[in-house]
Amino acid sequence: MTDDSASNSRAFKVVGLPGDGIGPEVYAAACDVLSVLQETHGLLIELDEQLIGGVAVDATGSPLPQQTVDACRDADAALLGAVGGPKWDGNAAEQRPELGLLKIRAEFSLFCNLRPIVTHPALHAFSPLRPERLQGVDLMIVRELTGGSYFGKKWRDADQAEDVCRYTRPEIERVTRAAARIARQRDGRITLVDKANVLETSRLWREVAHRVIREEFSDVTMENMYVDAASMHLLTRPADFDVLLTENLFGDILSDEASMLCGSMGLLPSASLNEDRFGLYEPVHGSAPDIAGKGIANPYAMLLSVAMMLRHSLDRPEEAVALEQCIHGCWSEGLLTRDLRTDGLTTEQVTMAVCERLRIQS
Ligand code: IPM
Ligand code: MN
Repeated sequence: MTDDSASNSRAFKVVGLPGDGIGPEVYAAACDVLSVLQETHGLLIELDEQLIGGVAVDATGSPLPQQTVDACRDADAALLGAVGGPKWDGNAAEQRPELGLLKIRAEFSLFCNLRPIVTHPALHAFSPLRPERLQGVDLMIVRELTGGSYFGKKWRDADQAEDVCRYTRPEIERVTRAAARIARQRDGRITLVDKANVLETSRLWREVAHRVIREEFSDVTMENMYVDAASMHLLTRPADFDVLLTENLFGDILSDEASMLCGSMGLLPSASLNEDRFGLYEPVHGSAPDIAGKGIANPYAMLLSVAMMLRHSLDRPEEAVALEQCIHGCWSEGLLTRDLRTDGLTTEQVTMAVCERLRIQS
């Protein structure tokens, strides 16, 4: 292979983490689409499947086996289905599937979690909000993902428990910079969401984040909003937000709330990035044990996560746009799964429809 062809079409290494519940079903949809992208766009991806979550606990005793970590270290990106399920609910803390997710975030410093919330006219009817409020909603939640009460000191005895929420200046600086770079490519407006009227960590966030913006991003503006008010404004005037920057726990809660603007949790992708372009891409919806194994899971969140992976870790924006356009085209035609309509299609039928469009479009 010449140097030239190597740079145009090098094979990317992606670790596939199907996980639990509907994870393997939506992961299979991603594999189908990636193989079509190879046909249509010459995109070469080597998928290396590894264990995480409950299936990893069952097979190895650990929710994030060393082999999975090693494989990721060697890869451009990882694509995750979902983790968790009732089978493991009673497990001790060290053997909970969710710990696999927390560990991989910490292990690879995936501090910047992106959750885009974009409404589409064809889906307005499926949101509990009135359609006129959904017009023009296009916001990006930037959630800090490796700090705060998720990762602070924890302890419990018979009568008390504590989860320490701690943030350091560098942690706030790096995620603020990431949010500002994203804002620059959008409308240039960040809403910093916190609880600075009560929490010391929030007051540090305000000081540090505003300094970063003032000193390094004069073209970006930053407003403040308390998290309780933000949860209300997300419902009353969601179209007013551009980039919403917030700490780990607030981001977890607000992103589930915001997903309802789009119609279903089954439509929401996410990217968790570090400073070296490596990213973990996963649908926001979780393992949905109630519908696992039925072939009816909504694959769109996973397919949109593939598009984010193409854009953020593999530097293939053209393919990302092509895939997103096919997905939006399918929405316009009402090609939806049962979470959205009672006569909905199966996971496979939706996936085939997206693949078909990709072939026609190219
Ligand atoms: C998410 C999930 C996780 C989180 C859980 C599964 C640990 O809810 O990615 O939003 O709380 O971060
Ligand atoms: Mn969550």
